[in-house]
Amino acid sequence: MILRVFAFIWCANLLTLLLFLVLINLVDLSPPEDIQIRAETRVLEQQVSDIYRIEGKAGALAFWRQIAPGFPAYALQADADCSDANVIGAADQGCLHLSRAGSIAERLQIIQPAALPLTIGALVSAVMAIFLSRWLTSPIRRISQGLKAIAAGHLQTRISAKLQTSNRELQDLGRDFDFAAERLQTLAEGRTRLFHDISHEIRSPLARLRAAVGLIEVSPARGASLAGRMEGDISRLDHLVNEILTLARLERGDILGEFQTFDLLDLVENIIADANFEGRVRNVKLTYSGVKTLNVMGNPELLHRACENIIRNALSHSPQGGIVQVTGQQIGDAIILEVADEGPGVPEANLKNIFAPFVRVEKEIPSAGIGLGLAIASGAITSHGGTILARNRQPNGLVLKISVPLKTSTANLIAGNAVL
Ligand SMILES: Nc1ncnc2c1ncn2[C@@H]1O[C@H](COP(=O)(O)OP(=O)(O)OP(=O)(O)O)[C@@H](O)[C@H]1O
Ligand SMILES: [Mg+2]
Repeated sequence: MILRVFAFIWCANLLTLLLFLVLINLVDLSPPEDIQIRAETRVLEQQVSDIYRIEGKAGALAFWRQIAPGFPAYALQADADCSDANVIGAADQGCLHLSRAGSIAERLQIIQPAALPLTIGALVSAVMAIFLSRWLTSPIRRISQGLKAIAAGHLQTRISAKLQTSNRELQDLGRDFDFAAERLQTLAEGRTRLFHDISHEIRSPLARLRAAVGLIEVSPARGASLAGRMEGDISRLDHLVNEILTLARLERGDILGEFQTFDLLDLVENIIADANFEGRVRNVKLTYSGVKTLNVMGNPELLHRACENIIRNALSHSPQGGIVQVTGQQIGDAIILEVADEGPGVPEANLKNIFAPFVRVEKEIPSAGIGLGLAIASGAITSHGGTILARNRQPNGLVLKISVPLKTSTANLIAGNAVL
């Protein structure tokens, strides 16, 4: 690359120099030696021509023989067909032609004045071309090095600060490179953390199952009493695997199923009724206020799952006697559902993280969940082209706000899956 840019710049410079030289010749800015020789040739021609006119061809030749020793570089020759431009004499007597041989050194002397500036120009332009080509190609070389580093797995590579270019397009390219590298790094770290979390979650029930099997082998009589616990661990594993599969399928975008228009409020009211029933133990009440229908187009199962998790989270984090307010509105082309509880909320720094898989924020009220509910809810909402946000409320409590477009296009569905 650098070699080609160098060759291009240098050739352009040389071409300019050559054009300059041609121009000098065209306007006859010839060096003084050249002018002197031409004047001398013209005088000699004139003299021989005058003698020829007076004394004829033989006289002209005799005259030349006399003066020739004084002009060794010249020769007077017969020109049979009188074709030369500076011919001496006429065709009936036979023409003569005065030619100048000139030594190589003499000829070189003629071009010497132009040769020096040409050589210096070529050298200076070569040096300039090297610097220029290095400077022009350095951002591209940096980007290429960055790409190689990313390909080699160094995802922490960033280049925009090192580009050292004032070219806006290249600066944009550097920033885009950094953005892409950051996304790749986040995704790669997320994957690694996900694998770690999955294996961690699976290991505990598996270890308990192995211990139970060991106990049964030692004393088979305890089998009946351990069966219940084993059943619990097996269903936990079953639930975990199902949730992971749902998350993976959401990510791939093949869970969207049949599209239909339905009233989301019907689903939400059912969830609220169930949650109110469960909440009676701790005197937690759930209420709904807002519009009477929440018609949306989408996958009822996915949206049900998302709403159920959010409402159940609110219930499980509510204190004794707490109230969970669910509100529904239609604003523009979207429906907005808010679930606000009076629980401990989430530390501000963790508000975004709770939508990542296996994130469980430490809190006073312990949760028995596995930390996949909000990740699945987020995937379900974004795959419908909607958004999900969490914010703390004053004096305490958490508000989960979901917004789903009334009509979801296929483009939205596919774009939304990138969020997971
Ligand atoms: N209403 C809430 N109030 C306070 N913290 C919450 C609330 N909702 C969610 N969280 C925090 O976000 C974390 C993630 O929630 P998520 O629903 O994904 O997982 P989970 O409820 O722990 O498990 P599950 O997979 O069974 O839903 C919770 O563990 C909790 O720390
Ligand atoms: Mg949950």
